[in-house]
Amino acid sequence: MPIVADEASKNTASLQFPKGFLWGVSTAAHQVEGGNDNQWTDWENTGHIRSHERCGKACDWWNNAESDFDLAQDLGINALRLSVEWSRVEPQENNFDPVALERYRAMLKSLHQRGIQPSICLHHFSNPRWFEQKGAFLNPQAPTLFERFTRKVVSELGDLCQLWLSFNEPNVYSTLGYVTGEFPPGYVGQIVNAMRVMSAQARAHARVYRVIHELQPEAQVGWAQHYVVFQPVRPGLDSLVANIQSQIFNEGFFQLMEHGKFNFPFSLVGGDAPEAKGTCDFVGLNVYNRFHVAFDLKSAFQLFGRVFVPPDVPQGDSGVEKPYGEAFPGAIRNAVERVARFHKPIYITENGIPDAHDRLRPWLIVNALKQVHALTKEGHDIRGYFHWTLTDNFEWAEGWHLRFGLIELDPATQLRTVRPSGRLFEEIARENGISAELIEKYQHVG
Ligand code: BGC
Repeated sequence: MPIVADEASKNTASLQFPKGFLWGVSTAAHQVEGGNDNQWTDWENTGHIRSHERCGKACDWWNNAESDFDLAQDLGINALRLSVEWSRVEPQENNFDPVALERYRAMLKSLHQRGIQPSICLHHFSNPRWFEQKGAFLNPQAPTLFERFTRKVVSELGDLCQLWLSFNEPNVYSTLGYVTGEFPPGYVGQIVNAMRVMSAQARAHARVYRVIHELQPEAQVGWAQHYVVFQPVRPGLDSLVANIQSQIFNEGFFQLMEHGKFNFPFSLVGGDAPEAKGTCDFVGLNVYNRFHVAFDLKSAFQLFGRVFVPPDVPQGDSGVEKPYGEAFPGAIRNAVERVARFHKPIYITENGIPDAHDRLRPWLIVNALKQVHALTKEGHDIRGYFHWTLTDNFEWAEGWHLRFGLIELDPATQLRTVRPSGRLFEEIARENGISAELIEKYQHVG
């Protein structure tokens, strides 16, 4: 009898998660849909993708997301985070495309039909060209323009989604676009503009929060914050510079959400967002890695902290220009303990590793989830874990070589193959827990 089998298998799970826990995967429109036409398309056409590959059909979701939804269902996944592509919904300013909205409705419905709860992110790094040409989030009108788009999307799709994210990683979008130049618009060293972009996104977020609650009082609204651990090598100066780096990268958006402004002295130049204070029902955390930091007079550009990855730590596949960081499941603890002071529910909205051959992903998943479990036992209200990602997809400025999927994809043939880590995730999701066997098997790296 299936019920008895279920009960029996539950007993072998030595770490059981709270009832209703979300076992999810996260995706982003530009990385999976294919055929998008936005500022990233221009970035690609002007030779900025490191591998010189094309996003092309991506995972072909615009035509056929449903076959990946079937696979997600087969993997026991009960939640899926996707983003709505602003350039499809509003291809010209104030001109909305009903066909695009209808396609999103169909996708959301097909998730529900498969027992998968959708979560929508309204902005995951991509902008319509008309918005980019206006200066994107540096345009004083940006929050108003983003509010108009949000109102349309929520009016059309709100009955099919309860869990909304305004922005994905404002700190990554602004830092990579305005300080390191790796993302469009590709500016380098514009720290003040990066802060202004972040504060504009916080003001836009506040509008999103209010619009969604006006149209859908029961909905839950948050955002996804990228959190990196900056680990000082030694106390003293290393610690001081690591802390400054964390203040700048991790803390800015938190400060806007907690106090409506950046901390002094950044508050003098970064722009404030008083309306953003307290506007979240949950905090989403995207957590991947740890960097090590040593004080170094030669690293002026990095505020005198040399950021590096020691050779002997677990790392995902190479091939990126800079080291991707140490794969560090413990980062989830740092991030959750930091956001505890919001006193809001928490979702791990992304966690993963580029790992084409599943060398480390199973270890990462088990050990990240051990952290999540321990934190829930300590009283942190963590409601779900969304792995990045379901199917290998096009990695922004890198190309196809970073393989983050539970499912391997050949972009040329669109052939999918479930990785062993996909089956491992399935086992955990179906058990709503991690068995003693898995914990034992993956206690050591590799
Ligand atoms: C982003 C994803 C990206 C992933 C892996 C996250 O910061 O939200 O879009 O693919 O990192 O680099």
